[in-house]
Amino acid sequence: MTEHEIKTIGVLTSGGDAPGMNAAIRSVVRSAITRGFAVKGVRHGYNGLITGDIVDMNLRSVSEIIHRGGTILYTARCLEFKTLEGQKKAADACREHGIDALVVIGGDGSFRGAKDLAAQGIPCIGIPGTIDNDIACSDYTIGYDTAMNTAVEMIDKLRDTTQSHDRCSVVEVMGRNAGYIAINTGIAVGALVTLIPEVPYDLDRDVISRMKKTQKTGKRHFIILIAEGVGHAGDLANEIQARTGIDSRATVLGHVQRGGSPTLRDRVTASRMGYHAVELISKGIYNRVVATRAESIVDYDISVALSMYKTIDTSLLDIASAISI
Ligand code: ADP
Ligand code: F6P
Repeated sequence: MTEHEIKTIGVLTSGGDAPGMNAAIRSVVRSAITRGFAVKGVRHGYNGLITGDIVDMNLRSVSEIIHRGGTILYTARCLEFKTLEGQKKAADACREHGIDALVVIGGDGSFRGAKDLAAQGIPCIGIPGTIDNDIACSDYTIGYDTAMNTAVEMIDKLRDTTQSHDRCSVVEVMGRNAGYIAINTGIAVGALVTLIPEVPYDLDRDVISRMKKTQKTGKRHFIILIAEGVGHAGDLANEIQARTGIDSRATVLGHVQRGGSPTLRDRVTASRMGYHAVELISKGIYNRVVATRAESIVDYDISVALSMYKTIDTSLLDIASAISI
């Protein structure tokens, strides 16, 4: 398909929602309309393509959303879309509704879907939206900053009561199989220990003896942060209490980390990425994932993006370990 044949751009959000997705939708819709494209919103992720849950978008459809969490287009995980039959249905729906190219805001599962849809003849652009920051090609994903700030706010509150009772709080943050939320939050809240799935740990060496050592210098309360990919906060709190005798509680922050008004960083990144996605389409460049690299907005071929590998900066754990004592 050539650039001249693209008249209408579709936009959808898919997978777990993330604060800033609305800012990305707003940016896509307004950048596209400004460039003369028509825009359709596909609701409930890939489900909306299969069921035809598609609405016309105009400049005012995205008013009053830049500061809102969630996604006005709703999101979903769609099993049927993982099948070839589902992908063909979705591509047919695009053609039926006149969607010539699709912008998919989501995580790498959603980008796999976009790649499959591209194979069915619908050009796609991916925008990384997930609190987990686990998109290999991008330094940063929409929602990550807000989720960390929410975690920090919650753990600061927890610190008050942990301190009053001379307790140990084991706090579990989200991240699926990645420790990005945990590793920065751990530094920001002064956690004595931060456990992430990327780095194996030894309970005695890394948790119990560290607690006992700091107790000797007068420490009376403890915050232990674990990423969900490491295990359950409740199990760890029980184990710590059994081994140290310190009254311990577990707190799972859960889905609260996925909500709330996006931070400045998430709003700006989402706005820049949405603009870039439309710019690519207007230049006739398709099947790319938009990403950040050293503060710049860049893009990668979807297949290349999906084959990339990202490593976490474990030196952050060393810093936390040196100063949270
Ligand atoms: P995320 O995009 O946040 O990684 P998921 O992994 O749940 O979230 O994927 C979101 C949706 O993308 C899935 O429900 C499915 O519709 C689609 N999807 C995921 N993986 C694939 C795949 N391998 N092939 C086609 N579609 C996929
Ligand atoms: O990918 C975002 C995320 O919130 C992960 O951190 C978490 O593991 C997962 O989604 C939870 O998914 P659900 O919303 O299906 O409970």
